[in-house]
Amino acid sequence: MKALMIGAVAALLASTAAQAQLKPEEMVEARQAGYQFMSWNMGKIKAQVVDGNEPFDQAKVAAAANVIAAIANSGMGALFSPDTTTAQLGEQTRLKPEFFDNLAEAGRLGKEFNTAANQLASVAQGGDQAAIKKAFGDVGATCKSCHDKFRAD
Ligand code: HEC
Repeated sequence: MKALMIGAVAALLASTAAQAQLKPEEMVEARQAGYQFMSWNMGKIKAQVVDGNEPFDQAKVAAAANVIAAIANSGMGALFSPDTTTAQLGEQTRLKPEFFDNLAEAGRLGKEFNTAANQLASVAQGGDQAAIKKAFGDVGATCKSCHDKFRAD
């Protein structure tokens, strides 16, 4: 009976691991989708607090900032494996192989991005547009510094 239960647990764990294990192409699709969705939400905040071509709506800005923070906090690092760069997948991806030669730097940039995204979500809870604009600029700068370093043109 005990052996049977252990066997059942092992089988369950194995099937969970199999589901979590994405193929390289699936990792690329998932991370690109995450970036695109963040980008769309960044655009909403920009329109309201930077360009001013949409009226400021604190609830909408907070919703957009929460999405960006949630994606940033989701553990996207798991979608980066060394067999998913331009070296293996060509034009399917823009991840430079250099990412894996500079993992400390990549981790530092990722962490800065996380901190900035959480800060934006935090200030977006209030209606201080100047503070939101500043935090938005800080997030954008962390997006850019990672792209400059690790995203192919
Ligand atoms: C830790 C590094 C890093 C950070 C931080 C980062 N990006 Fe990226 N981004 C990448 C890489 C690498 C790619 C290329 C992914 C691929 O093609 O597989 C990418 C791709 C993209 C794309 C193109 C997606 C597609 O469909 O090809 C957009 C849009 C984007 N990022 C927006 C953003 C925005 C907006 C932020 C900040 C809110 C951000 N990124 C933060 C590294 C980063």
